[in-house]
Amino acid sequence: MEGGIIVTESLTKVYRKGLRAVDGVSFTVFAGEVFGLLGPNGAGKSTTMAMLTTILRPSSGRAWVCGYEVTVSSLMVRQQIGYVSQDIAVDDSLTGWDNLVLQGHLYHLAGRELAKRVAAVLEMVDLVDRAHDLVETYSGGMRKRLDLAAGLLHRPRVLFLDEPTLGLDIQTRHRIWEYIQRLCREEGITVFLTTHYMEEADRLCDRVAIMDHGRICALDRPAALKETIMGDVITLGLAGEPADRKGELVALVERLPLVSKVSVVRDGLSLLVENGEKAIPAIMTILNSRGATVESLSLKRPTLEDVFLHYTGRELREEGGGEAFHRTARALRRARR
Ligand SMILES: Nc1ncnc2c1ncn2[C@@H]1O[C@H](COP(=O)(O)OP(=O)(O)OP(=O)(O)O)[C@@H](O)[C@H]1O
Ligand SMILES: [Mg+2]
Repeated sequence: MEGGIIVTESLTKVYRKGLRAVDGVSFTVFAGEVFGLLGPNGAGKSTTMAMLTTILRPSSGRAWVCGYEVTVSSLMVRQQIGYVSQDIAVDDSLTGWDNLVLQGHLYHLAGRELAKRVAAVLEMVDLVDRAHDLVETYSGGMRKRLDLAAGLLHRPRVLFLDEPTLGLDIQTRHRIWEYIQRLCREEGITVFLTTHYMEEADRLCDRVAIMDHGRICALDRPAALKETIMGDVITLGLAGEPADRKGELVALVERLPLVSKVSVVRDGLSLLVENGEKAIPAIMTILNSRGATVESLSLKRPTLEDVFLHYTGRELREEGGGEAFHRTARALRRARR
């Protein structure tokens, strides 16, 4: 556990019926960094966080937070950390201001210091105007922002944020990123967060672990992750082609000398190529010769999305993904009850 503020060693959680939600995960988070766990629904992100925050007991393996082992010294761990869960936990029958004051008392904040912090976090999530309205009159996004504000009230050594900006609009998301970075920079707080927003991982996190099926398949700085993918990415839109023909087209382009990898994506194919400009004519010629209709074509440098595809063979859907939306809706409904 030398050198890390969070350290895990073969951390594992097996749920009933043998589901290995987290499967032998080992990593180190350094003090002062923003560390992101990036993965699709069901990857095991929340389960990992639940073990680190002492909410869930690991099935095997070990983890330390601020030098304290999470099962042996769970109380000590709790005293060092802040945690904002994926589900919204604010009280509808109170005003936004009173919710935060209540939360502050739980963290032993009081008086002028508390009032100052409450005002600061309300400003950050842009709820100053609505601070004295009952939360039951808030929109879903406003509740999520208030919930996040509550988690940012005290200054823990390590702040755990499970999907901090899920379902929020882009302006609020950017403002929250700025605030999180400021917390790290000015107050030396370490932030451990989960996300399935590519841009969040890329722009906010110092280092990112890509998680899929309970395992970490890559871990590095976003830029370094992108550099591991050499070459360019070409995306071909083939929405008009029947699904069963995609296999044939994959085999066809895979044989081209400049193409190093082909993946099937939502509406077409994603190709990893050595030299995009040179590869395009050859790709178009061969597809045209088979009568395939290419509806669109784009050439770009690899993004984290491509890194994810490379390591997992799957796409990590972002905005507009129905699943994320429905989960937010579910969380909001639960919060309203
Ligand atoms: N209490 C539980 N009992 C049984 N299985 C569970 C439980 N909680 C989670 N799981 C399962 O464990 C796996 C990992 O779930 P987890 O919530 O950790 O994923 P996640 O990466 O946080 O996903 P999301 O992006 O949807 O929040 C999933 O297959 C999930 O169905
Ligand atoms: Mg989760």
